[in-house]
Amino acid sequence: MTLTSPASPAVSAPAGLLQLRTEGLARTYPSGDDQIVALRPFTHTFAPGLTSVVGPSGSGKSTLLNLLAGFDTPSAGSVRVGSTDIHALSEAGRADFRLSHYGFVFQNHNLVAILSAQENVEFPLILAGVPPRERRDRARALLAQVGLEKRANHLPSHLSGGEAQRVAVARALVSEPDVLLADEPTGNLDSRTGQAILELLLSPARDGKTVVLITHDPDIAALAEHHLRVRDGEVVVE
Ligand SMILES: Nc1ncnc2c1ncn2[C@@H]1O[C@H](COP(=O)(O)OP(=O)(O)OP(=O)(O)O)[C@@H](O)[C@H]1O
Ligand SMILES: [Mg+2]
Repeated sequence: MTLTSPASPAVSAPAGLLQLRTEGLARTYPSGDDQIVALRPFTHTFAPGLTSVVGPSGSGKSTLLNLLAGFDTPSAGSVRVGSTDIHALSEAGRADFRLSHYGFVFQNHNLVAILSAQENVEFPLILAGVPPRERRDRARALLAQVGLEKRANHLPSHLSGGEAQRVAVARALVSEPDVLLADEPTGNLDSRTGQAILELLLSPARDGKTVVLITHDPDIAALAEHHLRVRDGEVVVE
């Protein structure tokens, strides 16, 4: 992916690609006297490019992604991005690390309702301390890349579902993350719009970034180079 302006030191990826690795990563949830095993110990090195994650509802896909993101804490095991064990960081350290290295796309775009499309895309750069002119330029470049330069000033409520999701992808990509995590980003969209979103996620994958995509759609999963299947909390490499 190319951006029109140079990456800020605060959010640019370090030289070389950072590998995403799990080691014995597991999550159980307490349930009364019992425990729900949401993720069984999973050790894996994610190859650069696009990895699809499929599996039935309740199998543990989101649990895995939330642990990879550091949104949830594992019951055991670790997640490393390069040499950094993200769950060993303080909460503030993890938030900083995420800003520099991760992008996320959720099923329901999660845009900030009171911010315009442009401001939503700029948001991670504001948090990262990127100067105003540079972040405006970079947000505009990303909006153009997802075909929404004419919608820059619209609020999310004035965008279609597919447009809002494209803004969410632009927001995820604006800091050029090493790791891009997407949980059913095409779930609510018709298949053509879903394909368009997928194309946007494929672009960093082609640049050798690690992109992990949860999907229910076998046609979309088929476009990934690497495949994981989750069943009853067990992740199997296919
Ligand atoms: N915070 C929680 N507390 C207790 N149990 C949870 C929690 N989050 C998830 N679970 C349980 O863990 C299991 C895996 O849930 P998860 O959300 O990872 O499934 P999923 O594969 O993403 O499903 P879907 O396709 O419906 O999104 C389920 O049995 C779920 O009920
Ligand atoms: Mg889920």
